[in-house]
Amino acid sequence: MNLAIIGLQWGDEGKGKIVDLLAKDYNYIVRYQGGNNAGHTVDVDGFEFVFHLLPSGVLHPKKIGVISEGVVVNPKELLKELALLEEKGITPNLYISLGCHLIMPYHIFIDGAMEESQKIGTTMRGIGPAYIDKVGRCGIRIADLLDKKVFAEKLELNLLQKDYILKGKFKKEEIINEYLALFERIKPYLADTRYILNKAITDGEPILFEGAQGTLLDIAFGTYPYVTSSHTTVGGISVGTGIPSNKISEIMGVMKAYTTRVGEGPFPTELKEEEGERLRMKGREYGATTGRPRRCGWLDLVAARYATQVNGINSLVITKLDVLSDLPKIKVCTEYRINNKPCEFQSWISDWSKVEPVYIEFPGWMKEIDKVKEYSELPKEAKDYLAAIEEMLGVKIDLISVGPRRDQTIKRD
Ligand code: IMP
Repeated sequence: MNLAIIGLQWGDEGKGKIVDLLAKDYNYIVRYQGGNNAGHTVDVDGFEFVFHLLPSGVLHPKKIGVISEGVVVNPKELLKELALLEEKGITPNLYISLGCHLIMPYHIFIDGAMEESQKIGTTMRGIGPAYIDKVGRCGIRIADLLDKKVFAEKLELNLLQKDYILKGKFKKEEIINEYLALFERIKPYLADTRYILNKAITDGEPILFEGAQGTLLDIAFGTYPYVTSSHTTVGGISVGTGIPSNKISEIMGVMKAYTTRVGEGPFPTELKEEEGERLRMKGREYGATTGRPRRCGWLDLVAARYATQVNGINSLVITKLDVLSDLPKIKVCTEYRINNKPCEFQSWISDWSKVEPVYIEFPGWMKEIDKVKEYSELPKEAKDYLAAIEEMLGVKIDLISVGPRRDQTIKRD
């Protein structure tokens, strides 16, 4: 059985913890889109690991981590992440596709330059510009480093094409030397991951697909243009791995009990000032990649219903329920209205200031739940809150996370 773990909001839903928790039942853990813009935090025995490019499941010995074609790879950052794990005595089993597009130094520069005029609030890791080159058919893939001549020609084309913005800032020879040296160091991990994964499926070996970012940041179905540049929805798996979509049997959606977003862009249920600050402090809502404070707000079930539909979610995980424990009243958005008429979440809404969220209010449970182990031990108010989510989304909640540690997870039968 193959499982996809997908974020249903604007990323940072706590997918890293859930992947780490479930990885023991899967042979392969696959990152298939995005790059080192992700920040998946895993807490094991008091040690906090933050994964950016490596799949979070690699902390489990004998599991095989895979970075497939859909991921954009910065080899320097990849090696840094591997070195950090080595320091803790962990040497992951890892395959990286030769078909991954490379993040080049000029992509990071262009990311910064683009942000000056078009404020998206990117992570400045060069992600967007690397994907622009991919669809622009001038991207450079890891396999191009197998032949110095091929790499040099492609690099030259890119430097020439982009000179209107780079203005001679990057030297071809320096990049060639740097990337060929990096290539030698990542060589042991390189493989035909499409072949390996499809063979694993034929052999009945279970695969876990680890989504990065969230549905509302999807390049096609998110709050465009305030999105990332990859397909964060379940469709990203097929195009990012070469595995047919009918091989993905279970699609698990991960959602916080409230909402956060980093960077610019629409956020109908955002709470400003004290109320937002309260969630930020209690939920430690600061970006795992950039350290930026996350914007916080109430749970948006209109957006969640959309995300559930887009991904075909058949199992739900609610994270950070404990963060709501000291609130006397909890609001949930159940409807959007524009000019007093109900409307659905749509990726093409251009003036989000016209969208009015309609809320229903729940009484809070006003007691800590971070030590609760069984669903039956949760306060009635918390159960009612979860039941309303299930009813609105039409999907059962299978896991509830009440703290960062592996053992702070409630499994429902
Ligand atoms: P980029 O992916 O760096 O191009 O950034 C585009 C948008 O996606 C920005 O709003 C980022 O804050 C957001 N973003 C990218 N990666 C993540 C993530 O892992 N969690 C949350 N937001 C992210």
